[in-house]
Amino acid sequence: MQPQSLELSGIGKGFGADDVLKGIDLSIRPGEFLSLVGMSGCGKSTLLRIIAGLETPDRGSVSIGSSDVTDADPSDRNLAMVFQSYALYPHMTVRQNIATPLRMRRLSLAGRLPLIGRIAARADILREIDAAVTDAADVLQISHLLDRKPAQLSGGQRQRVALARALVRSPAAFLMDEPLSNLDAKLRAHMREELTGLHRRLGATFIYVTHDQIEAMTMSDRIALMSEGRIEQLGTPDELYQRPATLTVARFIGTPSINLMPVEITSAGRIAAFGREFGIEVSTNTTGPATLGIRAEDLHPVRNGLPARISRIETYGADRFVTCHLIDDQSVKIVMRQHAGDSADTAIDGMINLGFTESRTHLFGVDGKRLDISVREREAV
Ligand SMILES: Nc1ncnc2c1ncn2[C@@H]1O[C@H](COP(=O)(O)OP(=O)(O)O)[C@@H](O)[C@H]1O
Ligand SMILES: [Mg+2]
Repeated sequence: MQPQSLELSGIGKGFGADDVLKGIDLSIRPGEFLSLVGMSGCGKSTLLRIIAGLETPDRGSVSIGSSDVTDADPSDRNLAMVFQSYALYPHMTVRQNIATPLRMRRLSLAGRLPLIGRIAARADILREIDAAVTDAADVLQISHLLDRKPAQLSGGQRQRVALARALVRSPAAFLMDEPLSNLDAKLRAHMREELTGLHRRLGATFIYVTHDQIEAMTMSDRIALMSEGRIEQLGTPDELYQRPATLTVARFIGTPSINLMPVEITSAGRIAAFGREFGIEVSTNTTGPATLGIRAEDLHPVRNGLPARISRIETYGADRFVTCHLIDDQSVKIVMRQHAGDSADTAIDGMINLGFTESRTHLFGVDGKRLDISVREREAV
């Protein structure tokens, strides 16, 4: 099966008075791993269910390849949906679990043939299915588990059986709704690696729903970040991290979360806060309040920086995260990332002067939209 493109155009959906999807346009490329990411309740599952045909949009259209499937039954879309709860049949072996959906589908199609043809077709179909199951088990590295029952498998192995069951049908695309959220942290990290490996081997189109930005960042070719029924930004993980289009995106992407500082845009187009002017200039003629976003890795102690008091120091192997509160405004919490190996004259309740790399900051206007900045010669505060 050639990987297929998918096209969503002007998708709108409400439940009662609740407008859940407010006009979604999205082109998914053939063979791409695209994640729909956003906070719980933003409409990800509803959108995925509309793609699958399990939900009907109020407005807009869905196309797979060159065909409009907006009104097609789920079974005519040839999409494989992998859910968070991977309901396997407990009384069946792994082999039967993988084969059953395909077998039901194929035999029901063959059932439309005349009797003689039906018997001959049946033998062919069973042979084909057997071969398809063997291949799928091979791809997912569960060949040695084919004769076991689900109860004899680990969570990760069950997840792989569910994937094999989807794979065996050679779908036009795979749709996955939070498939890893029932697994423990270590297994989740392992399955992320398995899913990206599987995607690479299959070259199939994957649409992956998650509320976990780390999953989206580590696995996707592109991410569509959703908020309140809209796509805030569509781009590669790097683009979302390096150039968040809105404050919502900046807040959502990255661990630890981006630091946010209230600033003023002066009439001269400079950025100022706490009685200082930074070397950052705004190209638009906006003035007034704005928000400056600074990533933890872009902060460092400097002699003449913003004074702050340290409230917490966490060491994560290679990294050390130092949490402080600005003296000028105690409500502004800043997390600075350091290499744990760097000499640190930091201690809880100690003082520090914070500087940051101005060219790497992100400025957002009161409407939450990104504002372009430029930086004068001088690099740090
Ligand atoms: N069948 C439904 N009936 C009524 N409201 C629904 C239904 N499905 C989803 N919703 C509502 O739509 C919003 C988006 O839900 P959902 O798409 O499941 O979000 P997500 O998957 O991003 O967490 C939520 O407020 C949810 O309560
Ligand atoms: Mg959901």
